[in-house]
Amino acid sequence: MLRRILLGAVILLSITTNAQQNDAKMNAFINNLMSKMTVDEKIGQLNLPTPGGGIATGAVVNTDVETKIREGKVGGMFGVIGVDNIRRVQELAITTSRLKIPLFFGSDVIHGYKTTWPIPLGLSCSWDIPMIERSARVAANEATADGLCWVFSPMVDIARDPRWGRVAEGSGEDTYLGSQISAAMVRGYQGKNLAADTTAMACVKHFALYGAAEGGRDYNTVDMSRLAMYEYYLPPYKAAIDAGSGSVMTSFNVIDGIPATGNKWLLTDLLRKQWSFKGFVVTDYTAINEMVEHGMGDLQAVSALALNAGTDMDMVGEGFLTTLKKSLQQGKVTQKQIDDACRRILEAKYKLGLFDDPYRYCNPTRAKNEVMSADKRAASRYFGAHAAVLLKNSNQTLPLKRSGTIALIGPLANNKSNMLGTWAVSGDAQTSIPVFEGMKNVGGNGVTVLYSKGANITDDTTLAKKVNVFGEKVDVGPGTPEQLLNDAVATANRADVIVAVVGEASEMSGEAASRTDITIPQSQKNLLEALAKIGKPLVIVVMSGRPLILNRETEIASSLLQVWHPGHEAGNAIADVLFGDYNPSGKLTMSFPRDVGQIPVYYNHKNTGRPQSTTSEWDKFRSNYLDVPNSPLYPFGYGLSYTNFSYGDIKLSKNQMRSTEKITASVTVTNTGNYDGEEVVQLYIVDPVASIAQPVKKLKGFQKIFLKKGESRQVNFTIGKEELSFYNSDLKWIVEPGDFEVQIGTNSNEVKEAAFKLVK
Ligand code: NOJ
Repeated sequence: MLRRILLGAVILLSITTNAQQNDAKMNAFINNLMSKMTVDEKIGQLNLPTPGGGIATGAVVNTDVETKIREGKVGGMFGVIGVDNIRRVQELAITTSRLKIPLFFGSDVIHGYKTTWPIPLGLSCSWDIPMIERSARVAANEATADGLCWVFSPMVDIARDPRWGRVAEGSGEDTYLGSQISAAMVRGYQGKNLAADTTAMACVKHFALYGAAEGGRDYNTVDMSRLAMYEYYLPPYKAAIDAGSGSVMTSFNVIDGIPATGNKWLLTDLLRKQWSFKGFVVTDYTAINEMVEHGMGDLQAVSALALNAGTDMDMVGEGFLTTLKKSLQQGKVTQKQIDDACRRILEAKYKLGLFDDPYRYCNPTRAKNEVMSADKRAASRYFGAHAAVLLKNSNQTLPLKRSGTIALIGPLANNKSNMLGTWAVSGDAQTSIPVFEGMKNVGGNGVTVLYSKGANITDDTTLAKKVNVFGEKVDVGPGTPEQLLNDAVATANRADVIVAVVGEASEMSGEAASRTDITIPQSQKNLLEALAKIGKPLVIVVMSGRPLILNRETEIASSLLQVWHPGHEAGNAIADVLFGDYNPSGKLTMSFPRDVGQIPVYYNHKNTGRPQSTTSEWDKFRSNYLDVPNSPLYPFGYGLSYTNFSYGDIKLSKNQMRSTEKITASVTVTNTGNYDGEEVVQLYIVDPVASIAQPVKKLKGFQKIFLKKGESRQVNFTIGKEELSFYNSDLKWIVEPGDFEVQIGTNSNEVKEAAFKLVK
């Protein structure tokens, strides 16, 4: 035993010594380089331009980037895609700039790079942390093969408002799950060695609280208590930092009245001092300049504000490039602040191995072998199937039989342009598999699949125009809405079962794509009503970038399957689920409202002093609505399987514990249905009495298990101090003695319960 401890200590010591030696080497290298740099060259390192070209997310793109590179006025680039292009730009920096400092190259790699898979919200519904880590690993592999070394991901903004289009890019409403996913993605992108030519530097975003924009309107004001920040919104960013994320991107919103990019409390006191973040902070697109509109002063003033706050790199806006020297001369910023920021950028380049070999990510052979390779498409198909959430399945309509005739109907049923979903900037949607093709591939010869479009995604031409800004996502016609509908009804009449693929175009969610009406567009509602009238089994497959309101769809569907925007292998992945080659196991990570007026509706809300009655849906002088219940249509954690799982009672290892001890909560889960399948067993903790009013429950653990039909398994959760703690008024993470409740179940609403006491 002693030998083992000693050996461990020696290993730890040698790891520490190695790390120290590496740091010393890096510091010496950077000190030497910086001693040769002019102020202009140092400020140049803080500049991150984009040449534009279809992927700009703001009105401004940079001009004359080539001259700036020659003059040493560029630190990195984003929006340059392709191994040859990146090599060319790197060559320019290395051969023409005075100090030959390499550039780094970043991009939005959000749900895959060129090979694309389900939007992050969909991926989160897998609750499969190793799989999500693998997805980031695969993305890094492909992106680095094509010249990139920096990915603007993970996006970890907790969001409770499905009107906000960017819920598509995150992992939903829960802090615990969101933090696990955040850390997993950083591990996946960065691996163990950032300098390896297959790993990329992560950039956790958007720091911070961007998901809490008022009214779900993008870029809007955020105003929340420190308690809410610490308890619910900040942990996923912290998880990414703890996992070693090399960079952080600021958000567009204000925090306590100060835009994140100029917020010293956020970027210095919290991020650097409390969280010990050692990497660099980059702004979001023109976020420094946008502080002028926020009312924080002119460009010089806001650029100085950003640097003083702790921002290191200016994305696109060139406020740093054009004003920092003047601010230095006027004493508004210090040389040390510029040096610190420059050092952090150079350190990132050093860690990425770019000083050893500026072309290490520019290997055309890797590009040829890795980009859109068969294994990546296979991974995309696997991820696609695992993101699907089965919301309803009456009469076991699903899985479909591989015989008879299926009428595949809907504007998204034979569509390529919407399959990748929002923010798939490098993916080519035309190489995606539409559902029609997937159904034929997977269904095989025994089944006949007929297709009819049935409706346009929307008949609202004003909306269509806005959705089509990046290319045609909503195509209208051919044929009038009536002709489309009639053809669909005629097609459906010839079939045994109808599968309708409906929902949102990919650009109806994502950045600057907020909606106040989050139902399926009217044209498709009309189609669904007509199909329901036929009286045949109706499977509704919903593609969307956010939770939609699906009341009517729930009523009329025999089966309802939420598939998000599934990515390149959409058709195959969906068909794998529909025909039962993969038994769906997804569980919602955002509550699905019944009505937009309920928003925000989320599972871990606090109680009120007048909670809704447990016996009736409405009571005077209680916290409820006159017209809809408080509950969501589908709660957090909800999702069905083709099989059934039953839960035994919870067994606790003891009924009382001290805060230094642990309790094991066990439950036996049995697959009682007719298929093998996976279940996400969820653990919630309730703290009924505390010095800070606690939410009605909090997710504190989950396990995804596979059970063969008829199989039972005991699932154990360990509960200790960490699971029982919360932030108090002094923002201290504390635990208070008293009664606690443990809930274990299949979703946040259907749980078994047990109780125990925490004693001093
Ligand atoms: C703006 C978005 O908010 C951010 O997520 C993205 O990384 C940048 N644009 C760069 O495209």
